[in-house]
Parts: sequence; C-alpha cells; structure tokens
Amino acid sequence: MDILIPDIGDAEDVVVVEICVAVGDDIGADDAVVVIESDKASMEVPAGFAGRVASIEVALGDEVRQGQLIVRLEEADAQVTKGAAAPPADAPDEAETVAEAAPAEPSPEANADPETTVRVEMPDVGEATDVVVIEISAKKGDRVTSDDVLLVVESDKASMEIPAGMAGVVQEIHVAEGDPVVEGSLLATLFVQGAIPETAKTRPPVQETSSDDASETEDAPETNDGSETTDETDKKVAPEPGSPKRAAHLTNDKGGVDSDESGAPADRVYAGPAVRRLGRELGVDLKQVRGSGARGRIVKDDVKAFVKTQLTKPDRGGGGGIPEVPAIDFKRFGEIELQPMTRIQSSGATNLHRSWLNVVHVTQHDDADVTEMEAFRATLKGEAEAAGVKVTPLAFIIKACCQVLKAMPTFNASLDAQGRNFILKKYYHIGFAVDTDQGLVVPVIRNADQLGIFDLSRQIADLAEKARTRKLGLDDVQGASFTISSLGNLGGTGFTPIVNAPEVAILGVSRLAIQPVWNGETFEPRKLLPLSLSYDHRAINGAEGGRFMVMLCDLLKDLRRLTL
Ligand code: COA
Repeated sequence: MDILIPDIGDAEDVVVVEICVAVGDDIGADDAVVVIESDKASMEVPAGFAGRVASIEVALGDEVRQGQLIVRLEEADAQVTKGAAAPPADAPDEAETVAEAAPAEPSPEANADPETTVRVEMPDVGEATDVVVIEISAKKGDRVTSDDVLLVVESDKASMEIPAGMAGVVQEIHVAEGDPVVEGSLLATLFVQGAIPETAKTRPPVQETSSDDASETEDAPETNDGSETTDETDKKVAPEPGSPKRAAHLTNDKGGVDSDESGAPADRVYAGPAVRRLGRELGVDLKQVRGSGARGRIVKDDVKAFVKTQLTKPDRGGGGGIPEVPAIDFKRFGEIELQPMTRIQSSGATNLHRSWLNVVHVTQHDDADVTEMEAFRATLKGEAEAAGVKVTPLAFIIKACCQVLKAMPTFNASLDAQGRNFILKKYYHIGFAVDTDQGLVVPVIRNADQLGIFDLSRQIADLAEKARTRKLGLDDVQGASFTISSLGNLGGTGFTPIVNAPEVAILGVSRLAIQPVWNGETFEPRKLLPLSLSYDHRAINGAEGGRFMVMLCDLLKDLRRLTL
C-alpha cells in the first residue's frame, strides 16, 4: 500500500521536516508517517492505512509535491480515515472516504455562483495571545470594498484591523466586542458576487475536519485549531499577514517581539499538532523548548527533555519565591478610582517585568558635547524643510549608534537560550520608544546604518505618527537589534532604561542642557546631551560599556568622525 502526499493546496516549497516512522514499524491508520512544512504551515501526514512500513521513499529536507510516494506499507488495511493521505488514483469512493488537506480556494463551480457566501476568518497573529475583538466597524447589510475594515482585534501585543478582503455585502458579523478569537475563528460572512480574491488563494492550507474529530484528531494541523467546521460551499477569506490593511500596534514589548534567536522565528513554534498537544498536556510553553529536529523543529523528546530539565533544576531558594506585595484596601485611607490599564500598557508591564527579572542590568551615564552637532543641525533647517522633514537630535544619535554597534558587535547581539553564545546580528535595525496615549510602543527603523540623516528623520516621524494613530504593521515593530529611548525635550538629566530583551543593550537619551565646561582656561557654555546606556552584564562588561559611551560621545561631539 502506498502512502502519498495529500493535496496541499497552493502551498509552495513543501519539504519533509520530520520522518515519524522507521522501516519495520507496525503503524495504525492514524499514525503520522512524516511531517511536511510549507512556507505557510506544517502538517503531519497520517498513514491512512494500518500496516508495516516496508520502505520510506523520502528523506529529511526533500521537497515534495501532491501525489508523491512517501512510504510503502507491507500489509494493507483498506480502511481510510478522515484526514488520511490520498489513496491511489484508482481507489473507489475517493470523494467520500478521503478528507484532504484542502486549500481555501473553492471549486470552479462554486466560483460561478452568482452570489456566494464568503467567510472572513481570523488570520494568523503570530505569537500574539489573548486576542479579543475590540471594535466592530461594519454591520449586517453594509456594502463593503475589499479594503474596508470589518472589525478590529487586539492581542497582548498588537491591535489589528481586519479588512473584508473582497467586495460584497455583510451577511453577518459573527463576533461581538470583547469576544476572544483565535486563528481561523469565523468573524464575518459576506455575500459576494464574482471572483475569489487573492487572499483566499494565498491562504495557508487548511485541513477540513468534522466537528466530531476536530478536537482530538492528531492529524489536524494546528492552523485549524479552534476554527469552526465549514459548509463545503462556503469560501474563506483570511486576510494575509502584511496585507495593506493589516495594521498592528505592538507594545514596546521589552523582551518579546523578536525573541528566540535560537533558530526558529519568534512568531512560530515549529512543532506538529501531536507535539503541541503534548506541550499543552504538560503545561509546557513550546516557545521555550529548543527543537532538535530538522530546521529546529520540536519533537516529543524535546518536550520531555525540557520537562525533565525543569523538574531537576536545583532549588536554591529565592528564584520564583519573590515576596508578594500585600494587597491593601486603599479605600480605608480615602477616595480612590480604579482605572484599567490599556492592553498595551499591561502587556508592556509584563514585558518590562520579564526583562527586569531576566537581564542583569547595569547602567552607565555620560554627557555628549553636542554643541557643534546642534549648530550643524540648525544650519540644516531650511534644507530639511524643503525636503519635508524635521531633523531632531535623535537622527544623529541613531546614526552614531549604528557606527558604534558596528565597531562593538556584542552590543548588537542577543545571547542564546543557554547563555553560551552571542548571536551577533549583521543588521542594524534600531527600535525607538514612542510615547502614545495607549502606552509605550517601539517601532523599528530597518537597516538604519544605511540611511542618511534626512531619511532617518523621515522614518522617525512616519513611524511615530503610525504608532500614535495605531497604524503600525507587524514588520514595523519586529526585529530590533538595539533600542533607543529618547525622552528628548520631555526632561530629566538621566534615567535607567530597561533592556529590551532579548537585545542586550539600550540607550536612554535625556534633555540636552547648556552647562559650563572647563576648557583648560575658562568655563565655556556647551550643550551637553545626557546619555544612559543600560546593558546586560552577562553579555557586556563595564569596560566595554565605558568604551561604547566614549566612542558614542566622540562621534556626537564631532560628526566628521562618522565618515571615518
Ligand atoms: N534634548 C532637548 N531637546 C530635544 C531632545 C533632547 N534630547 N530631543 C529632541 N529634542 C527637541 C526636538 O529637537 C524638538 O524640538 P523643536 O521642535 O524645537 O525642533 C522637540 O524636542 C520635540 O521633538 P520630538 O517631536 O519629540 O522628536 P524626536 O525625534 O526627538 O523624538 C519620539 C521622537 C517619537 C522619540 C518622541 O516624540 C517620543 O515619543 N519620546 C518619548 C519616548 C519615551 O517615552 N521613552 C521612555 C521610555 S521608558
């Protein structure tokens, strides 16, 4: 009996990332034989037949396509289960016995329907959790274009507008404000005439499961968790990550957005459904587990090893046993008001707490003499205005930081999970804190080292504006390698910024002030910019911190040094 790669929809670059059986294994119809992964999703391929593995026809890393032979079984049991691999072409009753990993793209016949119901589902939100609907922007009967926002959801990290994805009339909004949603949740249905939108075609493969087996079937890919069963004739629209309307508003995420530099992208856990279920059963956060499988994929043994390590960790007291702050009824002392934090504030607080507890913080302070820099900046005013930008000290600070980071790569780095290796980043993506009415947000200027002062100024202004109007996309807030928190003209003479883990350093900037500086003969009025560098002392020692500050101050004091 041959086990073939099932229909994998429009997924591209599908490779074998795990082989779950060995020659001679006796397996059941529901046992996974391989795990395949595309650019969009991973999926376990179940045997579909019980038997003994006679041969394995693929190897790890092989690129595969629908219908390709993967495993041969010696003894065949004709029964085919739901979610099974596609049977041989001559198998009878194919349509009834096989539930394939069906793509969202509907059949051409369905396309021809004059008016069709289209499902708008919750898209992939990466590692974001606790996603709730915070705003319903359309109502039943509304005529919408594909770009019109139907509703807004918010997670612990982001708020995101969900566009219709195609033009039509709102048939029903299936959620209410405050409802929790997960990837695949049905958000709305539309009456639509005409062609299927691009979004439907580019949706990751979805494996249809009946409501009976959806919760327990191991071969249902994680992407389908929590989604409702569908009417076969319905079409689905899941707005693509990065689609024009997908706006996100991440918190400053001190410690979160681009974590896990160990190989797996931070917003994905590379694990099959069975492993995920094991993780759930054991209460393991798979993001903390290092995968030993191909391309960092987490296998069951990794989860078990992780649990074992956690259980055998020596108890040195302290640790998690931080004494609690007592709960006090403040009403006893006077009138009070309870004001809930915004989600961005509360998740920011969690991230800050995590960074504070995990990073060994040290802060060094210094003043940069920016008298000449400020004089130069003043001369740029007319030119900048003509170019439509406003140049603030921050652009120069970012530029100078990039140069120092290039000279001192351990500041542009993360530590690996074991704290044994530096992960040196060859890119210079600079995050900068923006104060918004919802809380602190940290957009990221990508490849800041390659930008001139005007371009940096433009990006600072654009990203700050997007942050304040909640228009940041996920790409705008991920991947920082170093962060700057500029309190600018807000005030202060210095502060201790908290490292945005897993980065290892952050620069705080306070308000520049004119100070008397001894020039060897007399006191001279100079413009001094207070800088505060916090770093993870596990990664960086005090001497390096000092050198960083000296070099940064030298560059800001004499911008000609940027050309060296
Ligand atoms: N000292 C004195 N003045 C400064 C300054 C500094 N260090 N940095 C900026 N300024 C001036 C600017 O030149 C500008 O003056 P001007 O209008 O006379 O030209 C003014 O302050 C306002 O600048 P701003 O609009 O804030 O631009 P910016 O590029 O300096 O900063 C942001 C942009 C987004 C970083 C800033 O608006 C912001 O949100 N900062 C808060 C960050 C924060 O909350 N950090 C705390 C994290 S814990």
